[in-house]
Amino acid sequence: MPLLNERFIQNIVILTGAGISAESGVATFRDADGLWEKHNPMEIATPEAFARDPELVYRFYNARRRQLPAVQPNAAHRELARLQREFHGDVFLVTQNVDDLHERGGSDQVCHMHGELNSMLCGGCGERMPAEADYNGDSPCPGCNARGELRPDVVWFGEMPYHMDEIEARLADCDLFIAVGTSGVVYPAAGFVQQALLQGALTVEINKEVSEVTGLFHLQRQGVATAEVTTLVKELLAG
Ligand code: APR
Repeated sequence: MPLLNERFIQNIVILTGAGISAESGVATFRDADGLWEKHNPMEIATPEAFARDPELVYRFYNARRRQLPAVQPNAAHRELARLQREFHGDVFLVTQNVDDLHERGGSDQVCHMHGELNSMLCGGCGERMPAEADYNGDSPCPGCNARGELRPDVVWFGEMPYHMDEIEARLADCDLFIAVGTSGVVYPAAGFVQQALLQGALTVEINKEVSEVTGLFHLQRQGVATAEVTTLVKELLAG
């Protein structure tokens, strides 16, 4: 098994998923067998649900946004931020999470490929703005004043994730790809490990369980993110 200290590592790409926020008390998508107001969250996060029942979707995202201040970043968020600050080479952090825990954990560069809870998007004029409060179908767009056009600035099932050009360029140039707390069932993120392998990167997975793509990684660190990320960052900074 190629070990970390057998390679000179210059460019790192890190993909995080809901599992990195789990120890902060944020429910993951697939671990949480929870329903929200009798609905499966994954049936609400769709353009069809927004067209069918916009007030349900507004309520769902208003509730998740209101919960954010109550949850705190954990050691995994903070250690990845330390790696970004202290590593001699380049560290590109891409997350599937829409929470702000990486930023509050100290990361200045975070690529939110599935968007952010704290941002709203106007379907009318295309303007993005910080999410200030709760929204509903009467909320006017600050840009074009249209009502009923404001939507959560998150990528729903069936929509194209954000920043894919930059992500693919980073994957094509990385020596090390690390996936933390993602089940590997949603593409394109689940395919990033193959892209990293194609160009010879070392690949490491941190997950508390075996994921759908565990077999594709050179190294698997099975355990909770707070412990395993801390260990891995220490190794990388010592190396
Ligand atoms: N430490 C490490 N891994 C953990 C922890 C933890 N404390 N808790 C859970 N996990 C792992 C689970 O084993 C699982 O593999 O995190 C993963 C969470 O998987 P999902 O809930 O599927 O979340 P994610 O992979 O981020 O989902 C991807 O799917 O629903 C869409 O858009 C949504 O961004 C989301 C995407």
